[in-house]
Amino acid sequence: MTSQTPVISSDLIPSELAPIIEALCAVSKDVAKIIAKGSLGQSLAHQVGENSDGDGQKALDVLSDEMFAEALKSTSVRWYASEEQEDAVLLNEAGAYALAIDPLDGSSNIDVNVSIGTIFSIYAAKDEAEASFLRPANEQLAGGYIVYGPATALVVTFGKGTVQFVLNPDSGLFELAEEAMQIPATSKEFAINASNFRHWTKPVSAFIDDCLAGVDGPLEKNYNMRWVGSLVAETHRILTRGGIFLYPRDGRSGYENGRLRMVYECAPMAFLVEQAQGGATDGKTPIMDQAADTLHGRAPLVFGSSELVDRVAAYHDKAGA
Ligand code: F6P
Repeated sequence: MTSQTPVISSDLIPSELAPIIEALCAVSKDVAKIIAKGSLGQSLAHQVGENSDGDGQKALDVLSDEMFAEALKSTSVRWYASEEQEDAVLLNEAGAYALAIDPLDGSSNIDVNVSIGTIFSIYAAKDEAEASFLRPANEQLAGGYIVYGPATALVVTFGKGTVQFVLNPDSGLFELAEEAMQIPATSKEFAINASNFRHWTKPVSAFIDDCLAGVDGPLEKNYNMRWVGSLVAETHRILTRGGIFLYPRDGRSGYENGRLRMVYECAPMAFLVEQAQGGATDGKTPIMDQAADTLHGRAPLVFGSSELVDRVAAYHDKAGA
């Protein structure tokens, strides 16, 4: 299904990882095409099961997982860990890398035509599958996402800045659009699912209260709010124009560590954001210094403009949280 001619080529991509990035981009073109058909195509938004986290799996979640795994078999990916599968699987015995992927994040947005994405992270493979992924986020060799929105774009870091390539519909190629994305140090935009406010911890409530108090409050600015409900879309907005995103731990059962998965979501997003001069913490401790305990383990996630992320950490310190 994927094309044989290269769809991405750049000396910003380390040559040893280039075939993996090429495979991800080639599949993403096919995924983007399927998504672009919307309700004209096969029904992709219907639930076909549950993943190991108990989240509903849509047909397109499962299909894209199969497409990425198949294409990566011919690369040097040894271990493949997918948010859609319970355990990591062996793709290529001789491969040197371990790749974690959320094949289609935000899939509840498929049927409403809102941006969704594929998130991935690459490590050096170890002998054991799990050990290849349960390690500090700062051991990632690459982290990135492909956003399927009005434009399809690859945003990726190899530890030397955050780079954006946009899929040009005319050429069919992912073309370099931005060599060094930079998150503004401050902003007047926050993103949080406010329907959970009664479950938040004190430092999170205090920070959001102060944002809502606007110019008359301690932050002395009028804030705007956005919540897409699609992590890739929120990250893309923040990488583009700044802001802060919070999916904190809260008092609901099952949300003791927030909602987002450390391996599939928090680690790659933290890598991208830090490489674009932003901050990413669990509320106070940098995500890049943390490791998941289990493949599907969750972590609270706060990221974005460094000044705002530091403020949230200060609210936690003040509360002794
Ligand atoms: O992890 C899946 C996801 O859809 C993210 O993309 C998004 O940030 C989050 O969940 C939205 O969660 P909620 O529905 O609780 O607002």
